[in-house]
Amino acid sequence: MARGIGNKVTIVGCGPGSVGYITLKALKRIQEADVLVGSRRLLGLFPEVRAEKLVLGKNYLPLLGKIASLSARKKVIVLVSGDPGFFSYAKLVINKLGKENCEIVPGISSVQLAFAAIGRPWNDAHFVSLHGRKSELPRLAEAIKNRDAVAVLNDSTVSPGFLCRYLRKEGIKGKRVYLCENLSLQNERIRELDLSSLAETEAEGMSVMIFLSE
Ligand SMILES: C[S@@+](CC[C@H](N)C(=O)[O-])C[C@H]1O[C@@H](n2cnc3c(N)ncnc32)[C@H](O)[C@@H]1O
Repeated sequence: MARGIGNKVTIVGCGPGSVGYITLKALKRIQEADVLVGSRRLLGLFPEVRAEKLVLGKNYLPLLGKIASLSARKKVIVLVSGDPGFFSYAKLVINKLGKENCEIVPGISSVQLAFAAIGRPWNDAHFVSLHGRKSELPRLAEAIKNRDAVAVLNDSTVSPGFLCRYLRKEGIKGKRVYLCENLSLQNERIRELDLSSLAETEAEGMSVMIFLSE
């Protein structure tokens, strides 16, 4: 809904987590902030920025109202991981404020890093997010049956073992799987697996899984 607020709220994509993947444009906007809003992890990337810092967590809905009211007087920057246009808080901020009251600074997405890590183009890929949404499992199974390349965003919502059992029950077999964990971070790990070995695997932290037809 259009409101005509004082300052545009800038939503900045911070990339997958390492400062090396933050763009110069993103850094410039962050350094100009009066108020920085973001997860503890993202705020922790900018200890030198002297802005007021608001932690985004389970308070994400009430925080929308605060972002709106602060933006009347202050330059508010909302930090999101990866790219704002890809499964992020940006959607809620834009719905609340109206797109004319938001500026979006793109970032490098976790899926870009995952495909770069396995050396495969991603223009034909299909994307599903299980991040906090187990209910997407049926859509994921359909995608894996019908597409050559499917990238899945996951946190600890669905374990690899549970996912494998589910996919097998759906009749899926013979897929190559890449499990890309904590991309760009110190504990980054990229493993090439099949469905049997994925079933035996523990995943740690944030991950992108890529399912490829063999
Ligand atoms: C709320 S979504 C945000 C996606 C983000 N907008 C993007 O473009 O990457 C969070 C999910 O992104 C993925 N993700 C974000 N950063 C990651 C990283 N450094 N390594 C692996 N996966 C990551 C994980 O699947 C995580 O559960």
